[in-house]
Amino acid sequence: MTKNTTVIAIDGAAASGKSTLGRLLAERLGCLYFDTGVMYRAVTSVALQRGISIDDEAAVTALVEHLRIRVTPPTRLDGRQYTVYADGMDVTWAIRQPAVDAVVSIVSAYPGVRQALTIQQREIAAGQDVVMVGRDIGTVVMPDASLKIYLHASVEERAGRRHQEIRARGEEADYEEVLASMRHRDEIDSHRTHAPLRPAGDANLMNTDGLGADEVLTRVLSLLDEP
Ligand code: DC
Repeated sequence: MTKNTTVIAIDGAAASGKSTLGRLLAERLGCLYFDTGVMYRAVTSVALQRGISIDDEAAVTALVEHLRIRVTPPTRLDGRQYTVYADGMDVTWAIRQPAVDAVVSIVSAYPGVRQALTIQQREIAAGQDVVMVGRDIGTVVMPDASLKIYLHASVEERAGRRHQEIRARGEEADYEEVLASMRHRDEIDSHRTHAPLRPAGDANLMNTDGLGADEVLTRVLSLLDEP
């Protein structure tokens, strides 16, 4: 007999607070935290690094079918939450570069890329409790998740958070540029044909504007306590 596992799906736009909530929640529940965005970012980063044209759907799709992406506990004390490997190469920070931000939405709109990564994400969730974070976890990857959360926040607040994150890493960033890049990404993520960003019908919607991470966590924990 297989054990019933708990899957908590957290979806929402970039910098809506998903990753912080996911990490805190997984820590509290003692289960795996998995941010599916790193997979789309890893494919994009490797494509750029290998000189594959991002507009070449067939080449990018062929890449994802062979690329081995692994996420492990942090291997260095440099502020990382986890280590991401792509074909054995540490790409943890490379996937956070603005060059990746600029085109990752194009890569994540390709159906073949989504299909391959969705299969890998389901394998990760099989047989273990997990808090899985992304754009389509509640709608496509894990439609039977035990609890679905969909986070909202204004684009200005999200760009402000992302801008601070980049500066906290000691990198230069212009708020207006971060804002424009985020608007562009929102537009593509929400209007793509395959698995667009939208809440599942049975998701709990939560607006995180002006809310601290602890407040969001408390609200989600109270949902878990409900019979
Ligand atoms: O959450 P993030 O900013 O790291 O996500 C990077 C990109 O990957 C973003 O443009 C949307 C895409 N993505 C997706 O399409 N589906 C997911 N489940 C996770 C991320």
